[in-house]
Amino acid sequence: MPKPIVQDKDETRLDPIAESPGFDLTESRIAIHGHPIHAMTVAFPVALTFCLFGADGLYWLSGDVFWARAGVWAAGTAFLFGLLAGLSGTVELLMVPGIRARAPAWTHFVIAVMLLALLGANWGYRMGGYESAVLPYGILLSGFSVLAVMVTGWHGGKLVFDYRLGTSKGN
Ligand code: HEM
Repeated sequence: MPKPIVQDKDETRLDPIAESPGFDLTESRIAIHGHPIHAMTVAFPVALTFCLFGADGLYWLSGDVFWARAGVWAAGTAFLFGLLAGLSGTVELLMVPGIRARAPAWTHFVIAVMLLALLGANWGYRMGGYESAVLPYGILLSGFSVLAVMVTGWHGGKLVFDYRLGTSKGN
């Protein structure tokens, strides 16, 4: 005979995270007239990471040194704009209690820092000779960076669209 399913009837239990002070305070504080600076800055590292991979691919196909030079610029600017975006995101994470209290915001932080490490390594590696750096390790690093930026961007979107973090409550 199958065992009866034991159901939890204790409805008085509370989620300690949801009970933390300021859990519902999730509006962006690092913003210009309510428009979050993080959302405005993330477009640059995302686009530049794709440009970096594109430049490496075109260097591989054409052997034209122009693309190797474009690659080193794309890697550097992706990294520096990524740091800027990361800075606004980190201040938001630490200053807004409802964002600070949610685990997915910290997950996003960890993924984003991995992306920044990849971009920084990619740029640094090219400093020792931007043309010789592209094949094979430069383009490999760029491929990983593209994967990391896709996950980071997708996850950031999840924070906004699913958890409504950084959004305005309206008037
Ligand atoms: C390194 C530290 C980072 C932290 C702590 C962080 C934190 C956050 C937070 C709290 C949000 C919710 C919206 C807001 O409050 O502004 C967000 C959204 C987002 N993040 Fe990050 N972030 C970081 C880095 C990055 C990086 C490097 C990228 C991409 C290159 C990125 C991509 C995104 C995207 C695409 C969104 C959604 C924006 C929107 O649709 O409005 N984040 N991030």
